[in-house]
Amino acid sequence: MAKTLVVGANGTVGSTLVALLAAKGETVLRATSKQAQKAGEVHLNVATGAGRAAAFAGVSRAFLLSPPGFTNQDELMIPLVDAAKAAGVAKIVLMTAMGANADENSPMRKAERHLEKSGLAYNIVRPNWFMQNFNSYWIASILAEGKIRLPVGTAKGSFIDARDIAAVAAELLTTNRFDGQAFDLTGSEALDHDQAAAILARESGKKIVFEEITPEAMLKGLIGTGLPQAYSEFLIVILGYFKAGYAARIESSVETITGKKPIAFAAYAKDHRAAWLG
Ligand SMILES: NC(=O)c1ccc[n+]([C@@H]2O[C@H](COP(=O)([O-])OP(=O)(O)OC[C@H]3O[C@@H](n4cnc5c(N)ncnc54)[C@H](OP(=O)(O)O)[C@@H]3O)[C@@H](O)[C@H]2O)c1
Repeated sequence: MAKTLVVGANGTVGSTLVALLAAKGETVLRATSKQAQKAGEVHLNVATGAGRAAAFAGVSRAFLLSPPGFTNQDELMIPLVDAAKAAGVAKIVLMTAMGANADENSPMRKAERHLEKSGLAYNIVRPNWFMQNFNSYWIASILAEGKIRLPVGTAKGSFIDARDIAAVAAELLTTNRFDGQAFDLTGSEALDHDQAAAILARESGKKIVFEEITPEAMLKGLIGTGLPQAYSEFLIVILGYFKAGYAARIESSVETITGKKPIAFAAYAKDHRAAWLG
């Protein structure tokens, strides 16, 4: 039976993707960088390469991502594509990020190009900023002070719910209708952070506001939370792209692929309201 390997299976996108594939009756192999303990898990550390060849054995389709924390996405993903090809994998869906193709020499774009030239059936998905960042990366200052602190000014973002990304990936992994195509994935509305904060406040009943900070203060904060310096600097650069307006574009890919409208920010906020109550 066709088996699908999901890299990042315990993560924000991957955990929903695993559930959606299972609901479709697919056999799923969940990759983890930790020791594989449960049935259906396989050890694969994409940073060290440990478990790489074994993880793809008997796999026919794979979902790949580069875990957060790394800026050498090409060095992590290219060996995965090669290992998949060597193992006879038929199709890969690679998740990078919206804007990855703005620079042919960016590490994410190099990974994409390697997949495009691999001869494998593939899709590339490039999501915009996740809605789920508000209940994960940005949550500490919301819980402590009711503030979302970012260096993004009044620029808008067409945030996407990670559940929509997973739905797109589940569809792409199980159809050949879109083979060879890359998709930018966005929500259906663009909001600035004052608007996003107001929606989070309304849905959670907690006072939440947006406060602009400098990139320097943001960088200090990120490094303070233990993120590697290079990855923190990478985040500052892409937050700068947000501030410059590059995250505002709205695309129809989610509906094209899944047949459903993207989840609205208000629905995301309602579903996650417990997160901001602490
Ligand atoms: N957040 C955003 O706004 C945004 C926007 C666009 C694109 N993206 C892209 O989305 C990706 C992250 O997706 P996500 O948020 O769903 O991920 P996530 O929730 O951060 O989870 C990633 C998973 O990867 C696994 N992992 C960590 N280190 C690993 C390693 N060395 N080898 C193998 N697996 C490892 C972890 O599970 P284990 O502990 O089980 O190993 C973790 O659960 C990144 O590539 C990022 O660039 C994010």
